[in-house]
Amino acid sequence: MAPVAVVTGAGSGLGRCLAVSLAADKTSLVLVGRRAHLLLAAREECVAAGAGPEQVLTVPADLAEPGSAARVVAAASEQFGGLDMLVNNAAVATFGALEPTDPDVFTRLFQTNVAGPAALIRHAAPLLRRSRGTVVNVGSIGGLLAVPGRSFYGATKAALHHLTRSLARELAPDIRVNAVLPGAIDTEMYQDLGLDEDATRRLREEMIRTTPLGRMGTPQDVVPWIRMLLGPDASWMTGTLLVVDGGRSC
Ligand SMILES: NC(=O)c1ccc[n+]([C@@H]2O[C@H](COP(=O)([O-])OP(=O)(O)OC[C@H]3O[C@@H](n4cnc5c(N)ncnc54)[C@H](OP(=O)(O)O)[C@@H]3O)[C@@H](O)[C@H]2O)c1
Repeated sequence: MAPVAVVTGAGSGLGRCLAVSLAADKTSLVLVGRRAHLLLAAREECVAAGAGPEQVLTVPADLAEPGSAARVVAAASEQFGGLDMLVNNAAVATFGALEPTDPDVFTRLFQTNVAGPAALIRHAAPLLRRSRGTVVNVGSIGGLLAVPGRSFYGATKAALHHLTRSLARELAPDIRVNAVLPGAIDTEMYQDLGLDEDATRRLREEMIRTTPLGRMGTPQDVVPWIRMLLGPDASWMTGTLLVVDGGRSC
């Protein structure tokens, strides 16, 4: 039987690149995100990469909504009979200073970036225990660095890192829980930070200037490390926060 993976945020960026990489190794996939058309395009790419059409299920869902996590896990169970890997990759990033930013932004970020992953792990745990499966959460060096105007996003990622380490202990030895912490990766996320065009351009320049390896990363720079944590080479790793950032946080 092919292993089964749930990848959230699979319609774009890092999640899509990961899904295609897993598809090339014939992993059965549940692709999750809000925009159905992006999931369908990702599904096509996965099939072109080598997965059978029956091996790739798309589940449009807003993971900030209660009930979505249960629906995603039920879909995996019904279609594939189990689950081996859960990758909590979906997130939103909104930058802004504390005082002018609407408190609802904070709530929304926490619902998507922390409560969503926690709910998915909770609902997936019985299946993952059965398969001695593994979870990889996609954190961020934004959860390590203290940067004015980025506290909301950073706080959600710091919370996700803590969740990773705590649940690694709580769910051991049956389920491994690790996280990858990327630095600046060139994805759609940079178009949707709540900043104007000029501020976004300046932010990208800052990212490159402050990254010792002199460029933004690509999804391909990060995907191998997620796959490493998902796979058997990491069978003695749990609770690890693996930084992949071109040196930006050192
Ligand atoms: N890009 C970077 O520089 C960077 C740096 C460090 C960490 N990261 C992390 O890397 C991960 C992937 O981000 P990315 O860079 O690949 O950006 P991205 O292309 O914007 O991917 C984020 C994905 O999450 C999905 N998503 C957002 N809110 C959702 C919700 N409520 N329910 C379901 N899906 C939702 C989005 O799809 P829909 O909009 O269709 O739902 C999108 O596919 C994130 O966890 C991010 O925090 C990124």
